[in-house]
Amino acid sequence: MPRFSHRVLVPELMDTEPCGSDTFRACLVDLSKVNRLTLAYRPTLAFLRQAARRLPPGRPLRLLDVGGGYGDTLRQLDRWAARRGIALDMTSVDLSPWSRTAGETAAATRTPIRFVTANIFDHVPDAPPDVVISSLFTHHLEDRDVVRFLRWMERHATLGWFVNDLHRHPVPYWFFRYFSQAMRWHRFVRHDGPVSIGRAFTRQDWQRMLAEAGLRPSDATIRWWMPFRYGITRFKPGPAA
Ligand SMILES: C[S@@+](CC[C@H](N)C(=O)[O-])C[C@H]1O[C@@H](n2cnc3c(N)ncnc32)[C@H](O)[C@@H]1O
Repeated sequence: MPRFSHRVLVPELMDTEPCGSDTFRACLVDLSKVNRLTLAYRPTLAFLRQAARRLPPGRPLRLLDVGGGYGDTLRQLDRWAARRGIALDMTSVDLSPWSRTAGETAAATRTPIRFVTANIFDHVPDAPPDVVISSLFTHHLEDRDVVRFLRWMERHATLGWFVNDLHRHPVPYWFFRYFSQAMRWHRFVRHDGPVSIGRAFTRQDWQRMLAEAGLRPSDATIRWWMPFRYGITRFKPGPAA
C-alpha cells in the first residue's frame, strides 16, 4: 500500500503483462465505464471549450490525444463539438497496437479518429497539433519522463496542451479498491486502478515538474477537479498558426 507522501511506481498490469487484443480491449472498455462514472471527461471538455475560442475561424481544431487507449475521450469531445458546429481533426497516439484495434471497433465519430501506434517520445506529428491532451497517461511515466513529456507538448502544440490525471490520495485509493471489486471490472482495472492512484500526483508534484520543464508558475494552471483529479492547462501566448 502506498504511503501517499511520494509516488510509488508499482508496475501496472496494462504496461507489463503480455496480453492479446481481446484482453486489452476488455480492459479499455471497462476503463471507459470508470471514466464515465468518475466524471473524467469534464476537465478535458472544459479545456476544449477554452481552446475552441482561441482557434482561428474556418478550420478544424487539430487534437492529439496521447495514450488515447480506447479513444473514448476523443469520442466525447467529438460529440460535444458536433453539437456546437466545431470541426475536429483527431489523432490518438498509443504505445499499444491493441489501442488501435479496440478504438477502431468502437462507435464511429463524425470525422474518423486516426489511431497511431507509437511511443510518444518517438512520434513526430505530420502536422503540428493545435492542442495536445492526455488523460490517465502521465502517471504511467517516471517523473523525469513526465518532465520530458511536458517539454514535448510545449514543443509540438501550437495553441496549448492539457493534462488530466489522478490525485494521489488515500480516499480514492480505498474507495476504488472496494468499488472496482464490487463492480467486477476487468482484472487489469481492479489491479491498476489503486496502483495508478499510488503512482499519481499532488499539486506540489506538478508545480515541481512544470518548473523543471522550464515553465513559470504563471504559464500553466493546476486545477483540482472533483473527484480527485488534476487538470493542468497551458495556453501559449498569441494566436494559433
Ligand atoms: C490508463 S490508459 C489511459 C487510456 C485513456 N486515455 C483513458 O483515459 O482511458 C494509458 C494508456 O497510455 C498508453 N501508453 C503508455 N505509455 C505510453 C507511451 N510512452 N506512448 C504512448 N502511449 C503510452 C498505454 O498503452 C495505455 O493505453
